[in-house]
Amino acid sequence: MEQELLSLQDEARENLQQLAEAGQLEEFRIRYLGRKGLCSTIMRELSTVPPEERPRVGQLANTIKAEIEKLFDEKKALLESTGPSGAQGAGSIDLSLPGRYPERGRLHPVTQIMNEVCSIFEALGFSVAEGPDVEHDHYNFEALNIPAHHPARDMHDTFYVSEAILLRTHTSPMQARIMESQQPPLRVIAPGKVYRCDSDITHTPMFHQVEGFLVDTKVSFADLKGILTVFTRKMFGKDLALRFRPSFFPFTEPSAEVDIACVICGGSGCRVCKQTGWLEILGAGMIDPEVFKMVGYDPEIYSGFAFGLGIERIAMLRYGINDIRLYYENDLRFLSQF
Ligand code: PHE
Repeated sequence: MEQELLSLQDEARENLQQLAEAGQLEEFRIRYLGRKGLCSTIMRELSTVPPEERPRVGQLANTIKAEIEKLFDEKKALLESTGPSGAQGAGSIDLSLPGRYPERGRLHPVTQIMNEVCSIFEALGFSVAEGPDVEHDHYNFEALNIPAHHPARDMHDTFYVSEAILLRTHTSPMQARIMESQQPPLRVIAPGKVYRCDSDITHTPMFHQVEGFLVDTKVSFADLKGILTVFTRKMFGKDLALRFRPSFFPFTEPSAEVDIACVICGGSGCRVCKQTGWLEILGAGMIDPEVFKMVGYDPEIYSGFAFGLGIERIAMLRYGINDIRLYYENDLRFLSQF
């Protein structure tokens, strides 16, 4: 009997050692520790042991059963914390669970609007040109009829890189760059980043503009109005009235700031349009003869218009966003809505 007990203990210990999966634990438990398992069977056989040996053998049987239970519990804890697939219970890793997918990327709302603006003008026959963000003072100012010390330079809070190099304050330098290297007729849009030393809820130090210009013979202000009317209709999906307010830019004459009827209230007055019924969306005008002269075009033969629109501003109107800084905080809760 004693011998039997000791070999049962050895066998159980060896079996446990070979167990590699938590799924096999139950089989072991039933075989050794179950109600009809080997331990119980031996206990029942105690009655056949001579009475004077029974206390000693009985105690040995209890010790061995307790030992097997202890080893079993240890093994169970081990397998369930590190066990391969199928392991159950607290702390186990279930390899059959689906993985965590990486977030799908998407285009930034400003990029989306930029692409949309460009494709509207491309459909109207404009080609797309891009120029440098780091620009010569010459193209940013001089060639646009803004000489040094001209008061119009005050409109731009410029980031200078050196005395003659700066971060462009608008996309208008592209007018001079394209015109000096190409001959009319021209229909060009130039999208890109621009920089001004400005920061509040409607200004960021970097923002996006799309410049547009058209040069040919007999171009009139009516053509400008026609193109912008088509653009606003396509962009905002409805016929919104346009209003041209006289303004001043050194590189256009006459110049205008263009408003559209408020996209929110349609013109009756609301918080977004500050009760005026109008929203400013761009600056425009007929290209100044002085600009033509500087690129070698004859202003007696050619005429043209130019406009510059702010992309963040248009995106704010389209999506009803009231703080421009949201675009540049990289908060996924904001960005993933577009
Ligand atoms: N460049 C001007 C600005 O940034 C906008 C503009 C472009 C005005 C073209 C007239 C013609 O404010």
